[in-house]
Amino acid sequence: MRTKIVAGNWKMNKNVQESIKLADEIVSELKDLTLEHTRVLVAPPFVNISEVVKITEATPVEVAAQNMHQASSGAYTGEIAAEMLTSLGLQTVILGHSERREYFGENDAVLTEKVSTALDHKLEVIFCFGEVLADRKSGKHFEVVAAQLRNVLFELSPDQWSSVVLAYEPVWAIGTGETASPEQAQEMHAFIRRMIADHYTQELADGVSILYGGSVKPSNAQELFANPDVDGGLIGGASLQATDFVALVRSF
Ligand code: PGA
Repeated sequence: MRTKIVAGNWKMNKNVQESIKLADEIVSELKDLTLEHTRVLVAPPFVNISEVVKITEATPVEVAAQNMHQASSGAYTGEIAAEMLTSLGLQTVILGHSERREYFGENDAVLTEKVSTALDHKLEVIFCFGEVLADRKSGKHFEVVAAQLRNVLFELSPDQWSSVVLAYEPVWAIGTGETASPEQAQEMHAFIRRMIADHYTQELADGVSILYGGSVKPSNAQELFANPDVDGGLIGGASLQATDFVALVRSF
């Protein structure tokens, strides 16, 4: 059975005190929940990771990073390396978020390097991708998504795929309140899985968790997560409130 995942991307929100409070609330609200086949992750800002790790250490909640640099170390002022994340006990990093692509110029070439560095350091990658509104309006969304996947991930070995989680996030749905319909999400997720099956094997494709991201909230999570190829969500806004976030975990 594929692992279900609910991952909260706090983005550039929550100072250290607020991060501690939110992590505490999430841990305490999840205490009585049996999480079978479901992983729960939170991705705080870098400077708050250590504190959140302390709170979540002996709990089912995992901590992920929102980004990392492609080089292993060196003169890259202001950047964070993979080994710094693993030294904190992290096992997962989010890469390719549309905000990194749009505001920080991350392209397929940089992301290919980042994915490779992350996997070399035994980090699991949550790889984000998705079309912008113009692509969808012009009917190019499948083509765009196919290229984003092919250009970065299709040189990976089958073994490496066991450390990859996909997050389909249509850019027009991120932070806009507009969500892809359950049908649109399922259609794209099935397309993605078919692409992976065609390039690798059906067995490999069947094992990859594909998350949906873009204005997921307690009111729409259940119908999104009910789709056979939607294995959970990458959550922005609704991950900033413990009650909302935990409601999403309960939506499976
Ligand atoms: P949102 O963000 O839930 O606020 O739309 C999702 C994301 O960017 O991962």
